[in-house]
Amino acid sequence: MARRPLMAGNWKMFKTVSESVDLVKKLKDSLSGVKDRDALVCPPFTALAAVSEVLKGSAVTLGAQNMNDNVQGAFTGEISPAMLKDAGCAYVILGHSERRQYYFETDALVNKKCKLALEQGLTPIVCVGEQLAEREAGRTFPVVESQVKGSLGGLTPEQAGKVVVAYEPVWAIGTGKTATPDQAQEVHAFVRDWIGRLFGSSIADGMRILYGGSVKPDNIDSLMAQKDIDGGLVGGASLKAEDFTRIVKFLS
Ligand code: PGA
Repeated sequence: MARRPLMAGNWKMFKTVSESVDLVKKLKDSLSGVKDRDALVCPPFTALAAVSEVLKGSAVTLGAQNMNDNVQGAFTGEISPAMLKDAGCAYVILGHSERRQYYFETDALVNKKCKLALEQGLTPIVCVGEQLAEREAGRTFPVVESQVKGSLGGLTPEQAGKVVVAYEPVWAIGTGKTATPDQAQEVHAFVRDWIGRLFGSSIADGMRILYGGSVKPDNIDSLMAQKDIDGGLVGGASLKAEDFTRIVKFLS
């Protein structure tokens, strides 16, 4: 099955509202002719509504970087899935390694968020990936396997068919050290194989699996040439209109 590529920009904790609006105006322009692939931006919460306004009528879609695992309630400082939808989001990144590392998010929590996001009509981008010590100890596959099972367990095949997975080796995030296309492909194929065992081969064939970790204009083409890499989750390079545009326009 031909999978439609998805390039997602994860802006992390960068950009004020006016800086966000500036960047997204440029992207709206530079990406206006792009038709055969999806482009997504995930600004900080404070900029979502303003960015959504700018993106009206454009092909670029909007997502958030996190959400709470409850529908609503007394959870000071948290943001609900309905609030994200109301602000114009179609996607939400879940279980990013920075959330797992600094905010102690577990597979069980990511799983709960994933189910809630789906129930509330948001497309989850569920992140998995091994740390450097785990790779060096030869534990990449068991670590990724348990994250995939733990984060996506209990979904119906129909729900799983709506999920996007991002493989982000933690040692490649923000370090300038990209996994080689072969290293990435190997894990992507492994993830797809597990998706097949859990949800069936047609779900596995259709699932978009993104690579993240120092994706740049000069390495995106070789990553996208791999058969199981369906897009990118891009941090640093998504903060510059020119770089993100080039990434979205890979191999063209
Ligand atoms: P990076 O971040 O592209 O800056 O390495 C990727 C990510 O954390 O999603």
